[in-house]
Amino acid sequence: VLSKMSKQKTVFVTGGTGYIGSHCIVDLLNEGYEVITIDNLTNSRSGALRRVEEITGKKVTFYQCDLLDGETVHKIFAKHKIDYVIHFAAMKAVGESMQFPLIYYKNNVIGTINLIEAMKANNVYQMVFSSSCTVYGDPEHLPITEDHPTGAVTNVYGRTKYLIEEMLKDLSRAEEKWNIIALRYFNPVGAHPSGRLGEDPTKNFTNLMPYIGQVAIGKKPNLTIFGSDYDTPDGTGVRDYIHVMDLASGHVSALTKLDQEHLKFKPLNLGLGHGISVLEFVKEFERLTKVHIPYEFAGRRIGDVATLVCDGSRGMKELKWQPTRSFQVMCKYRCSQLFSIHPFISGFHLYWDCLA
Ligand code: WQD
Repeated sequence: VLSKMSKQKTVFVTGGTGYIGSHCIVDLLNEGYEVITIDNLTNSRSGALRRVEEITGKKVTFYQCDLLDGETVHKIFAKHKIDYVIHFAAMKAVGESMQFPLIYYKNNVIGTINLIEAMKANNVYQMVFSSSCTVYGDPEHLPITEDHPTGAVTNVYGRTKYLIEEMLKDLSRAEEKWNIIALRYFNPVGAHPSGRLGEDPTKNFTNLMPYIGQVAIGKKPNLTIFGSDYDTPDGTGVRDYIHVMDLASGHVSALTKLDQEHLKFKPLNLGLGHGISVLEFVKEFERLTKVHIPYEFAGRRIGDVATLVCDGSRGMKELKWQPTRSFQVMCKYRCSQLFSIHPFISGFHLYWDCLA
C-alpha cells in the first residue's frame, strides 16, 4: 500500500472514450492512477469522459488524437511522464473489416506501430494490449486455453489483433525491456452500475447486446438471429459473456502484475468460462426486463463460429482477479444505461422494471 501511495503512477490509455476504455478508466481513477487518454472519436463521444469524471470525482487528461498521427502521439508522450500504456484503440466491426481490409490494417496495425515507437522514444516498456478471443479462430478444443493455436482467424478484424500480438511477441524477443500482457477478451457486455456509461457507439450496432438494446427501446423492429443450425444445444451461437466492469478490473490487476514480474509477452484470457446461446440470451433479457424482443432467424453471419468459451483459470490465477458479475447483472446494467443515454424514449419503463 505504501509504495502505491508514495508515487502516483500514470497510465496512457488509447481509445479512452470507447466502451471498454471508458469503463476501465473509472477503475483506474478509483485505484489512484493518473490517466492520460487519447481517442480519435470516430466511433465514440468525448462526453463519456465527462461522465467518467462525474462518477469518480477525478480528472482525466484527454487529447483528441489519432494513432495514425504519430507526430502528435510523440508530442503527448514527451509532455507527460508515463508509466504504463493500455492500448484499446482499434476498429472492431467484423463485417466492416471484411469490406475495408486496408482501413483496418492501417488503423489497427500501423496505429499500434506508431504507439510502440512513441513508447520506445520515451522509455515506456510496460503495456496491456486489448486482444480478443477472435485470435483463436474456429476453436479446435473447448474450453479455449491460452495454449490453443492462434492465427487461423476467420475475419480481417481478428487478423489485425493476431498480427499485433505476433508483432508484440517479436518485439519482446528482440528487446529485453518489454513487459506486455495481451488480454484476450471474450464477449464484453453490461455497463457501469450508475447507468451513466455503457456501450454507446456512434455507428455500428452489430454486436448482440447493443442490438437487443435497440430492439428493446423500439429503435429496431426485431433482432435477426444469425444461424439456427450450429452444433450447439439450441442451434444458435454460444459465447462467453463477461461484464465490462469485471473486464476493467482485470486491467487494473494486469498493471499490478506488470509491476511484480517481467513477463516479456504474456497472453491471458478474460472470460467466465460459461457459455450462453443467443436464444438463452434473448430469453433471459426478456425475463429480467419484461420487454418482449421479437426475433427472426437468418443464415449464419460470415466469419462467425459456433462456440467460443474460455478456460479462464490461468487469467484468474495469474492476475489474482475474479469476475464477480453474473449474467443477470450484465442485463440489468444494460437497461439502466439505455435509460440515461436515451432519456426521452421508452427506455424509461425498462429502467424502473430493472431496478424494481
Ligand atoms: C454474439 C452472438 C452472433 C448480432 C465480436 C468479435 C469478437 C469480440 C466481441 C471484440 C453470435 C449473434 C449477433 C445479431 C445475432 N471482441 N448475433 N444477431 O461476433 O461473438 O464477437 O465481438 O471486439 O472478437 O468477433 O459478438 O455480439 O456480434 O455476437 O444472432 O444481430 O450473437 O451470431 O453468435 P461476436 P456479437
